[in-house]
Amino acid sequence: MKILTLGNELLRMKAEPVSTIDDRISGVAGEMIAALKDGKGVGLAGPQVGFMKRLFVVQVEGQEPRVFVNPSIIETSQETAKYEEGCLSVPGIWADVVRPRTVKVQAWNEKGRPFTLEAGGVLARVILHEYDHLEGILFTDRLPEQKRNRLLAKMERAAAKRRA
Ligand code: NI
Repeated sequence: MKILTLGNELLRMKAEPVSTIDDRISGVAGEMIAALKDGKGVGLAGPQVGFMKRLFVVQVEGQEPRVFVNPSIIETSQETAKYEEGCLSVPGIWADVVRPRTVKVQAWNEKGRPFTLEAGGVLARVILHEYDHLEGILFTDRLPEQKRNRLLAKMERAAAKRRA
């Protein structure tokens, strides 16, 4: 699976709901988990591999991979936390992002079984980051403008160097 990077317009589009959780969906989820391991990431969303469906996979260190199909964010805490994020679609950039500290999410797994999960810590962080991908939002969008511009300029310079 090829992971799309910043500048690809698919990353900016809203993903469509999955209508049926069938073998195709569980197959794509399995491939996404494999791609996630290859990329040493903690989460990967459909749009990042050009699959424009509401589906993401998460694998936090020391835990089994989880698949979220058609997720809904039911609740987020008022309390926020700052945590360093990166993204396989925004290579070479890490930055502190402020988000709710905890999240309650409802979704279906790759077998079509519904579940509700309350998460905090890294898991909450990854769920919120991946959910954003389904809405066409990247973590860099959530940075203060100056910081964002500075980091994106740095990334451009690094990319130009690689091309040269
Ligand atoms: Ni990401």
